[in-house]
Amino acid sequence: MSHDPKEPLLLDHNYDGIQELDNHLPRWWVWLFYITIIFAAVYLVYYHVAGIGDLQAAEYAGEMKSGEQVKGAAMGKFEAGLASLPLLTGPAELEDGRQTYIKYCAPCHRADGGGLVGPNLADSYWVHGSNYTETVKIIWEGVPAKGMITWKTVLKPQQVQTVASYIYTLRGAKLGSPGKLPENQLPAKTAGPGAFE
Ligand code: HEC
Repeated sequence: MSHDPKEPLLLDHNYDGIQELDNHLPRWWVWLFYITIIFAAVYLVYYHVAGIGDLQAAEYAGEMKSGEQVKGAAMGKFEAGLASLPLLTGPAELEDGRQTYIKYCAPCHRADGGGLVGPNLADSYWVHGSNYTETVKIIWEGVPAKGMITWKTVLKPQQVQTVASYIYTLRGAKLGSPGKLPENQLPAKTAGPGAFE
């Protein structure tokens, strides 16, 4: 049978008047189809036969590892510069610090800093030293044995810095109900940024 390939072909069956028209697929569509077959073959060889490409799990592990490296570097940089970290006093920074405090610290130190499980942060007494570097350090490292969490695994360096700065605004505040009794001596002599009295 001679048939013009550009014309659709009417197939020679007929069921109760229903006939089938064999339309030709557009060339671009057919090419797309071939390309998917080629792609699948390349994909199979690249990822599964030769094993050149990383599969999802390996790719995830690789991304996590480089993420950890970036995080480790940022944490190392923060720790290295900790001694010269400035006390923040900007209202926006202190507000950030306040929000972190209410969310993470208030359950143990009370919303007004009066102290619950954790010591009173609104008095002039310190367990671990009164200057800003000491305060940042104690928040960063925590005192896990005494129930103070190591916040470096939870908070970002910037958050530790703002919440440490915020704590100084609680000092000497008039509390609604009496705060926790001092757990240490008044600091003999304080120095450095943020030192209180
Ligand atoms: C699970 C309870 C708990 C939480 C939550 C907690 N702390 Fe503490 N914190 C403590 C305890 C307990 C101590 C006392 C540690 C010690 O006696 O060595 C402490 C000590 C401190 C100190 C030292 C006080 C001093 O007198 O030297 C600071 C500063 C401090 N916490 C800040 C924070 C900040 C900021 C947060 C929130 C990011 C926080 N804490 C969250 C329990 C907690």
